[in-house]
Amino acid sequence: MDKRLLINLQRVPKHVAIIMDGNGRWAEGKGMSRVFGHRNALTAVRESIESAAQIGVKAITLYAFSTENWNRPKLEVDALMSLLVNSLKKELITFQKNGVIVNAIGNIENLPSKAKKALNEVIIQTKDNSKIIMTLALSYGSREEIVNAIKNISKKVVNKELSVKEIDENIINNHLYTFNLPEVDLMIRTSGEQRISNFLLWQMAYAELYFTDVLWPDFRKEDFYDAIIDYQNRERRFGKTSEQITE
Ligand code: IPE
Ligand code: IPE
Ligand code: MG
Repeated sequence: MDKRLLINLQRVPKHVAIIMDGNGRWAEGKGMSRVFGHRNALTAVRESIESAAQIGVKAITLYAFSTENWNRPKLEVDALMSLLVNSLKKELITFQKNGVIVNAIGNIENLPSKAKKALNEVIIQTKDNSKIIMTLALSYGSREEIVNAIKNISKKVVNKELSVKEIDENIINNHLYTFNLPEVDLMIRTSGEQRISNFLLWQMAYAELYFTDVLWPDFRKEDFYDAIIDYQNRERRFGKTSEQITE
């Protein structure tokens, strides 16, 4: 049975964030090197983007490389960076076919110049699409993002462009890398780990969290739809009582 038919198209999350985890274990389970796992992660990325676009998700954010991931062996970091360059080129067709606007968050300046170039190219090539915004979190750390926002806000205060009194949640939102994205409604993490790993701390304040044991290279459309169906069976109360919600 097509799981998509079980989805209520009136209650689709606007913004889905995914921690794509488990590539290394997937490969090790097959007696292969970790990099083999990263190489086999692209189908899962493609299927997630396509299924999100098909049901009307407006924003999908994929955690591809964290600030902490720079501490991995150089061989693995280099492999991830060249995979990024190749995948961006290879997937341009997928982006255009599905109306995907490509976006990036994180300390992009820290990426190798080849990766920055490939990223800029695909951002420009997809800027006129309008169905879904796909954000890659690259060299991304939520704490660093918040530090960065505080610095930029402080500068404005010092320059008298902004007063302390004016600082509110909106101002902070507008200084995060995600300023142009809606709040995260659903966060999916694969591979069985149940932690946030410095991802979108502020933006996930009221997100529904969904954990699955599926390893990222095995994640397919049905797995994505399972997460959406699970999300739709939850009651988001935002501090209110259940009675107030159902009224
Ligand atoms: C996720 O898979 C990909 C990145 C973090 C880049 P991992 O490489 O973390 O895989 P595991 O968690 O070691 O299995
Ligand atoms: C989080 O995965 C980062 C990405 C998926 C890119 P990790 O595998 O690096 O997370 P930890 O270190 O196990 O929490
Ligand atoms: Mg991991």
